[in-house]
Amino acid sequence: MSALFPVIVHDVMPEGADCVRLRLAAAPGQGALPRFAPGAHVDVLTPVGLVRQYSLCGDADDPGFYELCIKREAASRGGSESLCSTVEKGMELHISPPRNAFMLPAAQHYVLIAGGIGITPLLSMMARLQRQGADWTLHYYTRTPDQAPFRNRLLAAPYMGRVHMARSLKQGYPAALSRPDTDTAIMLCGPDGFMQAVSSHAIAAGWKPAQVHTEYFRPTEMVTHDDEQAFKVVLARSGRSITVPPGQSIAGALMAAGIAVSLSCEQGMCGACVVPLLAGEGAHRDMVLSEEEQACSIALCCSRARTPSITLDL
Ligand code: FES
Repeated sequence: MSALFPVIVHDVMPEGADCVRLRLAAAPGQGALPRFAPGAHVDVLTPVGLVRQYSLCGDADDPGFYELCIKREAASRGGSESLCSTVEKGMELHISPPRNAFMLPAAQHYVLIAGGIGITPLLSMMARLQRQGADWTLHYYTRTPDQAPFRNRLLAAPYMGRVHMARSLKQGYPAALSRPDTDTAIMLCGPDGFMQAVSSHAIAAGWKPAQVHTEYFRPTEMVTHDDEQAFKVVLARSGRSITVPPGQSIAGALMAAGIAVSLSCEQGMCGACVVPLLAGEGAHRDMVLSEEEQACSIALCCSRARTPSITLDL
């Protein structure tokens, strides 16, 4: 996990029917908040001691504040719930510097697609795109459009007209998905099933997988493979060689050998453990790297090797 630093809860506001929005400011003596690019997230040490990742949903061009939106989750292990129910204005929280595994690529047009609380990283993108005069639309699928988080902001100026709300994909996919266009980027965030359905629909319609940019805000189930083989990890900078046995992650094997590894979610969804892959082929199990990125990078917390040996820039 990255080093945490203190921030002050500047405001706590209800957002929609079941979310809480936190506005965070720099703690006295800590200097300004680190700047972030749209799509970034931070780790938050919750009041019950669990670390959770939340997208920064405020304006990336506002240097004074961070905003997070937290959904009360019935199935939560207590992290999100403890933030929703106990955080008050004036409290100190500890968070990590922003990390970004969901950057806006350069494109002529943008189709943003959110499922539920997956709206959060797209909000900072919309603010940036609107300011840049870019061509964008948002399709926001939410079970209860009347009580959806950020509804009022999205249906008011300057966004209205660009925002389309629907209850579910049963009402139809965004029409733009049936017209593949090489100058358009699709930015997609939501529950796993929603994202898989939208991605598959887009790719079947002719979009290239690299045009569909995704962020998983909840880990998918990690699969254990019975046929895992041991492999060797060579560290290019020191020349050391570490064996990763079946059932252990690369990160686990490196740490067991006394090598420090930066970790956060440990589930392949945040990008904290990604390092350059210099040689060999990865068996990638993360959800943050594109196919292109996987050719030259690897997430140490979850991925393994397809070749007997891989070389890392460590
Ligand atoms: S620690 Fe989050 S992707 Fe590996």
